Parts: sequence; structure tokens; C-alpha cells
Amino acid sequence: MDNNKRTTTKIQELTYELKVKDVMTKDVETVSPKMPVNFLRDVLQNKRISGVPVVNDNEFVGLISIEDFIKCLEQGKMDDLIEDRMTKNIKTLYADEPLVHAVVKFEKFGFGRFPVISRKDKKLVGIITKSDIIKGVLKKLETAYHDEEERRYRASHIFNDIIADEVFLKFQYYVEGKNFDKAGEASTGLKKTLYRLGLSPEIVRRAAISTYEAEINVVAFTDGGIIVAYVEPHQIKIVITDKGPGIPNIENAMKPGFSTAPEWVRELGFGAGMGLPNIKKFADKMTLRSKVGKGTHLEIIVKLSNYRDED
Ligand SMILES: Nc1ncnc2c1ncn2[C@@H]1O[C@H](COP(=O)(O)OP(=O)(O)OP(=O)(O)O)[C@@H](O)[C@H]1O
Ligand SMILES: [Mg+2]
Repeated sequence: MDNNKRTTTKIQELTYELKVKDVMTKDVETVSPKMPVNFLRDVLQNKRISGVPVVNDNEFVGLISIEDFIKCLEQGKMDDLIEDRMTKNIKTLYADEPLVHAVVKFEKFGFGRFPVISRKDKKLVGIITKSDIIKGVLKKLETAYHDEEERRYRASHIFNDIIADEVFLKFQYYVEGKNFDKAGEASTGLKKTLYRLGLSPEIVRRAAISTYEAEINVVAFTDGGIIVAYVEPHQIKIVITDKGPGIPNIENAMKPGFSTAPEWVRELGFGAGMGLPNIKKFADKMTLRSKVGKGTHLEIIVKLSNYRDED
């Protein structure tokens, strides 16, 4: 609930920050008022648009829509000039207006699009639709989110302070077998810890996803295991061990799509056979050893080179 509220506020904030020109479509198809309506046939069809601005010497004079076109078609008036059939006095937006004005106008008038003109010379510079607004806001939201992550990462220097070349930090988590209510707790815990240490989001994500997949395997296929993470100056090493049934053929197990997941695991949405291949993809190094009847030992290494370069 709270989260929802915050997102809404963030989006609202962005509609004030962004200008109409930031999200509008600039490459606009236009027609001139002296053309016959018939000319629209190709424009409307090829560009799959529902309305075209009419421009006289770059000056916006009206909008002709697919409805206007159809009316002419029905009346057999395809030779009428566009200027006689277009809608004049169209509501427009200035390019330098904040996006929130566009949002308000869309709500108020219910049009599909607004021509955008420059305040200085009143020339047409673009066109804006609701979908332009949504796309623009989403893009900005994503950038803002990344900036925020980046800031948090830079703000935290605990890791730099603690680490000396011979030092490593060790974190240990227990994983319960067959209990999917708790599945993911260990990797989530590790993820939080790594963030707190000030590691870069990219590194944390790769370590967390790999650990998550390994944790799920321990839950699904064994009676439990241990995850130990060593955060060293140059790398994170995560060791996952269990005393489960072991893997008879590691080469097979590594193949995308290979899975022996039983029905009850599949019912929970697991068992695509993508866990181990994903670990291989996200880790810089992966070592898997297993003995049938004894257990499985998986080592995942994520290098911190990015992190060190940042200093
Ligand atoms: N710790 C483990 N103990 C015993 N067998 C395992 C272990 N981890 C993986 N396996 C075996 O390797 C197979 C492939 O594992 P992988 O994680 O790639 O796929 P999955 O777990 O079956 O499906 P997904 O991970 O996509 O939900 C498993 O189906 C299982 O047979
Ligand atoms: Mg798996």
C-alpha cells in the first residue's frame, strides 16, 4: 500500500520534471491544406495513424482525422480540399510545457493526440499521444531508479573501511530441506548483507540470483544444507553443501531443461531445469561436485573487479 503511494508520487513528480518535448514524437507526418482529402488514403494506411496535422508553411492550421476521411468517403467527396474538411481550433500544447499539462488535457478533452507547437514561432514541432507519455515516464522512472541504486552504493563505504588484503568476511545460512515456505530466505539474507557492505548492485544481483537457485535446489532435492559466503577483497565465494542424494550425472544436470523435479516441486512452479544453467550464467566461476548417496558441493565465485575499479 505504502509502496503504491510512493510510486504514484514519483510518477507525478516526473510529470512535472519532464517536458512535452521530452516525450513527444518529433518525426511527424503532416499534410498541407490545399491537398485533396483523397491524398490521406496512403498516409493513414501506411503510417497506421488516426489523425494527421495540417501544416501551412510549417504553421499548424488544423487536424484531419480518420473520421473526417471516412465521412468524405461516404459522401463521395474525396476531392474536397483538406482545409475544408479538417478540424480547426484544435487544442495544442507548447513544447516547453511540463508533461503534467498534457496529462490534464488528455483527461479533460479525451482526444487521442495533441499537436505540439513551439511557443516562439507557433510552428509544429511534434505530436504527443498518451502512449508517448507512458513510455517517457517509464523510461525516466527506470533511470531514476538506477541513479538511486548508484547513490546508495556510493554512499556506503563500510566495505572499504573493513577490508584489508588478508581479511575476509564470512556469513553462514542454514537451509531447510523440503520447506518451500522458507525457501529463498538464505539468499535474501545474503543479498541484504552484501548491499549493506556497499557492493555494487550488479555484483549483488549476480551473487543473489546464483545463491537463490542453489538454495532452491537444496530445498527441492535434499533434507537441508548450509550456505557459507566469503566476502574477500577481490571476490565473493559462496559454498553450498548438502548431504542429499547427490547428482549421478553432472553433465546432464547442467543441461538447460534437464530436471528430475518431482511432481510436488513442479506444482510450485519449479522444475524448468534452468537453475544450474542460470548459476553458470551469472557466476564468474562455478564448481559442482557431487557423490551419489553422500551429497553435493557447489562453489560459486563472483569477482569484484568492478568494485575495485570504482575506487
Ligand atoms: N543439491 C542437489 N542435490 C541433488 N540433485 C540436484 C541438486 N541440485 C540439482 N540437482 C539435480 O540437477 C537437476 C537440474 O537442476 P536445475 O536447478 O538446473 O533444475 P531444476 O531444479 O530441476 O529446475 P529449476 O531450477 O529450473 O526450478 C535437478 O533436477 C536435480 O536432478
Ligand atoms: Mg533448480
